[in-house]
Amino acid sequence: MGGSLLKGLTSNNELNFDISVVEPNLIKDNYNLISANKIKHYQSINDLKETDFDTVLFAVKPQVISEVCLGVLENLDQKKIFSIISILAGTKVETFESYFGLSPIIRAMPNLAVSEGSGVTALYGNNNVNKAFKETTDKIFSGVGEVIWVDNEDMMDVVTSTSGSGPAYYFFLTECLSLIAEDMGLSKENADKLSRQVAIGSSDIMKSSNDSLSSLREKVTSKGGTTEAALKVLMSPDKEFYNIFKKAIREAYKRSKDLSN
Ligand SMILES: NC(=O)c1ccc[n+]([C@@H]2O[C@H](COP(=O)([O-])OP(=O)(O)OC[C@H]3O[C@@H](n4cnc5c(N)ncnc54)[C@H](OP(=O)(O)O)[C@@H]3O)[C@@H](O)[C@H]2O)c1
Repeated sequence: MGGSLLKGLTSNNELNFDISVVEPNLIKDNYNLISANKIKHYQSINDLKETDFDTVLFAVKPQVISEVCLGVLENLDQKKIFSIISILAGTKVETFESYFGLSPIIRAMPNLAVSEGSGVTALYGNNNVNKAFKETTDKIFSGVGEVIWVDNEDMMDVVTSTSGSGPAYYFFLTECLSLIAEDMGLSKENADKLSRQVAIGSSDIMKSSNDSLSSLREKVTSKGGTTEAALKVLMSPDKEFYNIFKKAIREAYKRSKDLSN
């Protein structure tokens, strides 16, 4: 996820930051990115001594965040208040406040598609965040997709359960479509190709159109046609499909809340 953000940051000409990366084991893609963009690379936080930063972006697994925050405190100038951005799932702003006190802190929840530049990131900031830091953070994540702001940290659990896990829901729906087409006689190869392209094509249409989602659906639903026959089942009056989907997302939401507590 850190590598994807770096890719977005370096490909956005509007952003002109001096970037340093701390990463113990650089993978080849990130090594190439860092070399091509003259970014400083440090093997460990302990190598950061006497360096100066305005902003620190945390992109490590939540399990190691205490160790990493202590490392930052030990090695960076403690008198300086630097701005903090965290992309850690389920890690509240108060965790960072406990280490960095008065710092402006923004919590970001990106999703996997940032690696393709078509992600969506929800942002939430504490009271110390000013307009300039908000704008900078907005630009960082706009470089890898769309951005939304929420003004209540609890909403980050809604975001996690809908857009964070969201790509997996679409992969599953596409998988179902492929399996059903195969069950009905297509070869596995054709069923896979067809269902992937349906997902890609539908995304392209949503991207290029300003129509509401319901009107996009209505446009492919001719009266008495095949789509209408299928939608009568999917949109049955008992809302069976909608309710099972909602139940699944509520489970993800509960899990997100449990993890952050
Ligand atoms: N993946 C997603 O879709 C997604 C979505 C939203 C939010 N997030 C959040 O993004 C964060 C990163 O997730 P990820 O999937 O990108 O995990 P990841 O691939 O494991 O990346 C974490 C990186 O941090 C490095 N690291 C570990 N300890 C370090 C230390 N002490 N100092 C500096 N770097 C250190 C790791 O190096 P090693 O490989 O050598 O351990 C690794 O390169 C997580 O907190 C996750 O909750 C992920």
